[in-house]
Amino acid sequence: MTAVERPRVVVTRKLPDPVEDRMRALFDAALNPDDVAMGRDAILAACADADVLVPTLGDPIDAALIAALPERLKLIANFGAGVDHIDVAAAHDKGLIVTNTPGVLTEDTADMTMLLILAAPRRLAEGIKALEAGRFTGWSPTWMMGRRIAGLSLGVLGLGRIGQAVARRARAFGMTIHYHNRAPVSPAIEDELAATYWESLGQMLAHVDVVSVNCPKTPATYHLLSRRRLELLRPHAFVVNTSRGEIIDEDALADLIESGRVAGAALDVFEHEPEPNPRLAALPNVLLAPHMGSSTLESRTEMGEKTIINIRVWQDGERPPDRVFPDRADAET
Ligand code: DGY
Repeated sequence: MTAVERPRVVVTRKLPDPVEDRMRALFDAALNPDDVAMGRDAILAACADADVLVPTLGDPIDAALIAALPERLKLIANFGAGVDHIDVAAAHDKGLIVTNTPGVLTEDTADMTMLLILAAPRRLAEGIKALEAGRFTGWSPTWMMGRRIAGLSLGVLGLGRIGQAVARRARAFGMTIHYHNRAPVSPAIEDELAATYWESLGQMLAHVDVVSVNCPKTPATYHLLSRRRLELLRPHAFVVNTSRGEIIDEDALADLIESGRVAGAALDVFEHEPEPNPRLAALPNVLLAPHMGSSTLESRTEMGEKTIINIRVWQDGERPPDRVFPDRADAET
């Protein structure tokens, strides 16, 4: 790889001010101060004279767009950990390097997940909706009784970096930890979390009180929580998702909650984002949040810093630290 003096860097969305300031100082940066999602034609037009593209979640960096990128563009430095919006294999076939920003958003995403894990059994959304609708007439011994968190079992679907951070928090709240992965984690991690591995996802679902989705979206995890699997949950179980909406069959989930066969859900991500499922949105025992897992000043700034490091290292003709490979595109974040 050869060094590039001052690369032309196209950024598709508004980034935190300190990140943009640094990018302006280091690169010939084309920023998007209006933060209007650019869409395929605008991205291609902006990239006509670019060396690096900095896309983010929601930008459709598919095979057709990659094929149309100019030969000069050699690096796709994603702002974000998930790369499910990028056809990593097509990028590699064209000789492009793809990078992401793992690690720096782990703790904040785990905090948000824990918030939802606490909120669902304690009926927080339901209570707030009742209050806002004027249905709180005063404290009563039997109103809005939820479930005690301590003693509940948590099933983590994807005990990767974020899943482990969630499990650590849940342990501190007295929950017992169960998990399903393609393969067990190391005995040291299992010991630390006192975590029970379930090779069968179905068996785990039939056993736990709360299931938390923490695996990445890949072709293999699309609708992993299918109707058939969701039906295995017990009627008092809750579903939490801070990963990607497409991992859950939302219509099936809505059917099961509507009919009382699942107790409720707390979802930070939607199958057809940004549109929430209208049936889920109408349910009192469903909490919906607008994809806020990594939304702290600290995470978003560090994600920007990681993006810059990846570009700088590439610019110096070296291999960037956070390269994503097609065979690892489904690695847990
Ligand atoms: C990511 O980085 O992929 C996250 O979903 C952003 O919150």
